[in-house]
Amino acid sequence: MKDHRAELLQRIADRSARIGVIGLGYVGLPLALLFEEAGFTVTGFDVDAAKTAALQRGESYIRHIGGERVARAFARGRIRATTDFDLLRQCDAVIICVPTPLGSHREPDLSYVRATADQVADRLRVGQLVVLESTTYPGTTREELLPRFAAVGLASGQDFFLAFSPEREDPGNQSFQTQNIPKIVGGLDPASQQVAVALYSAAVAKVVPVSSPEVAEAAKLLENIFRSVNIALANEMKLVLERMGIDVWEVIEAAKTKPFGFMAFYPGPGLGGHCIPLDPFYLSWKAAEHGVWARFIELAGEVNTSMPHHVVDRTARALNRHGKSVKGSQVLVLGLSYKADIDDDRESPSFEIIERLQAAGADVTYCDPYIPVARPGREHDLRLASVACTAEEFARHDVLVVSTAHSDFKDKRLYSGVKAVVDTRNLMAPLGLVAPGASGPEVCRA
Ligand SMILES: NC(=O)c1ccc[n+]([C@@H]2O[C@H](COP(=O)([O-])OP(=O)(O)OC[C@H]3O[C@@H](n4cnc5c(N)ncnc54)[C@H](O)[C@@H]3O)[C@@H](O)[C@H]2O)c1
Repeated sequence: MKDHRAELLQRIADRSARIGVIGLGYVGLPLALLFEEAGFTVTGFDVDAAKTAALQRGESYIRHIGGERVARAFARGRIRATTDFDLLRQCDAVIICVPTPLGSHREPDLSYVRATADQVADRLRVGQLVVLESTTYPGTTREELLPRFAAVGLASGQDFFLAFSPEREDPGNQSFQTQNIPKIVGGLDPASQQVAVALYSAAVAKVVPVSSPEVAEAAKLLENIFRSVNIALANEMKLVLERMGIDVWEVIEAAKTKPFGFMAFYPGPGLGGHCIPLDPFYLSWKAAEHGVWARFIELAGEVNTSMPHHVVDRTARALNRHGKSVKGSQVLVLGLSYKADIDDDRESPSFEIIERLQAAGADVTYCDPYIPVARPGREHDLRLASVACTAEEFARHDVLVVSTAHSDFKDKRLYSGVKAVVDTRNLMAPLGLVAPGASGPEVCRA
């Protein structure tokens, strides 16, 4: 009998294994490039023909994944991007990086994972390794992928291999990228574990094997829940200390000097990005199936989702102090992306802040050098384009709301003619604009 495991291990070792990456977004694209750079032949799959066409032309559609890197990789000829899923048959390893959003009732939406698993199952052949990277609740790999693949008549751990390995991408992080972020790998069985560990070890600096896909799935959720809960705590501290007239930012800086047992998290206008606002609810949903209520997750969600409302309230107060009502006032929101210096606007709280202010009758515009035009999404369609990042433009408005601390906004001269700023990111203090007696706009922290 043919030893498919040994054969695949050999192909990984000599780099003749062909890698398929499904879903060429923020996670899949850098991963595909990484395997190409490690010497493998890579095929990237996506349902979005505009993306695959751009990549084939050597262009990047994600700003922090440089066009040069994409152009260089595609010029070498070892990587291609396609919408033709029949090419999956040629791949020895298939890595799934498709979206895992929430449905309208905050329930996991596994439709992308299921559709992709069906595409893979239709082409599954002996000797293939399939790894799911999409963030999801514990049990997804075993409950959703395995039955689809087993139905083909192949045996896992023998004919094909299956694992879960969570992505830990931090877009825009200069110190940690796909290659040097340790990679957790949980195989369904010892053979799957061995080949999946071998595959990632060929491309990333450190692989952390765990005993099952469920441990790997849960570890990813713990990481994101940890962030969500601690951000909620920082937000709650902000609300409490604000009432007491104490500056939460100064408090955090002071607490941060403790060399052990404390990790700084910061308040903000609400959660953003594809992970932290969504992933925790994957666990609370699954927990309910087991009769347990994940109360920390729900409470953190409640605190964090109330933040845009708080920001709007502070904006109304700031306008009021200048004798203006929200209705009819000119409001400029600084930053549409969910975090500084990246072009990702998914789940950004700026959308809700803008929509709430618009609903109250304000004339709202935004400024974001990373997002020249607000793209319509599943939940929002602002139909706005960014105004220029200039002092003249800023001065035209009654109030500025700092939602994202882009580096472009860290220039004191921009605020010379501004009347009021609602600052959710502590952007103004380092510019010397909140010190007692400082000239410039009235700054309200929110
Ligand atoms: N963005 C991050 O920083 C990050 C970090 C860790 C984990 N994750 C997780 O990784 C997964 C992917 O996230 P992302 O940020 O890369 O999403 P993304 O939206 O940037 O990319 C997903 C890609 O998949 C494509 N796609 C959708 N359905 C498909 C299908 N059926 N077949 C092939 N392609 C399909 C989309 O066109 C898109 O290009 C999610 O589960 C997410 O939670 C994301």
